[in-house]
Amino acid sequence: MIRIISILTGLFFAAALLWSLLWDTIQLGKDGLPHTVEKAFVKHDLKKLDLASDGVFGKFDEAQLQRGFAVYQNVCASCHSLKHVSYRSLAALGYNEAEVKAIAAKATINAADPLTGEFKDRPGQPSDKFPPVVYAGAGHPPDLSLITKARHGGAAYVYSLLTGYANQAGYKNHEGKELLKEFPDAKTPDGLHFNPYFANLNIAMAPPLTAEGQVTYSDGTPATVDQMAKDVAAFLVWTAEPELEQRHQTGFVWMGFMLFATVLGYMSYRNIWADKKGH
Ligand code: HEC
Repeated sequence: MIRIISILTGLFFAAALLWSLLWDTIQLGKDGLPHTVEKAFVKHDLKKLDLASDGVFGKFDEAQLQRGFAVYQNVCASCHSLKHVSYRSLAALGYNEAEVKAIAAKATINAADPLTGEFKDRPGQPSDKFPPVVYAGAGHPPDLSLITKARHGGAAYVYSLLTGYANQAGYKNHEGKELLKEFPDAKTPDGLHFNPYFANLNIAMAPPLTAEGQVTYSDGTPATVDQMAKDVAAFLVWTAEPELEQRHQTGFVWMGFMLFATVLGYMSYRNIWADKKGH
């Protein structure tokens, strides 16, 4: 009886697994043939980005995070907020207390005065979060704290987007089809910028990284556009998951524990059955 139940349970799990695999395949097949301009011309094969924080052994590269933070501060911060990040947490990038204080003090925070309750501007403190950004241009720059979690492809998407602006005239997709020949009406409207990595091909953000040396790196790394894009993408992985290293460590402790429990279970099984077998 027990044997039948365990076989049935096994079959049930095997069937569930098979079904979920098939289901994914069916879903993938559904959006097979492109029929709109976005489907045919948005690039889904992102540029490859290898980061130190990738994989189960991944750790943040502090020097890279500091460079990425410099890019954010000098370029992106004029339009994009970072509301989930506190100045204090920048210690994880390798800044000491005095440096964190100095970075925070450069910000202006509008907060209630503890004595009068009145809202006033004051210099930032380490316990403050990055303040909201007032933006008056076209479009809505999203808060960047969680963007690498919110977009498919994460850091590789941000990197591809930043370095992916292209000339729309003559632009061809991977099948060699020319966009404006296939869809003559799809010309990028004035004020928008053609970027084949963006979900609808035309983005309100002008290319933010345009010239080598736009940001001065204190560690001497040459600040090419490609390097700045990689570094800011790495930094945005950290803002979205500052506890990533800890999660990796917890994973290892768990795996060790499970391994230990498995060995223990096997040993006690052998022990219990040792004198029952062979009779
Ligand atoms: C001059 C203002 C401005 C600057 C500077 C700027 N952005 Fe943007 N950004 C925008 C706007 C506006 C949008 C919204 C675009 C849209 O929805 O069409 C945007 C959108 C984005 C998006 C989201 C794209 C998506 O998939 O929805 C990312 C990621 C991004 N910006 C990253 C950056 C980074 C990183 C920097 C700094 C290197 C930067 N931006 C600098 C204005 C700016």
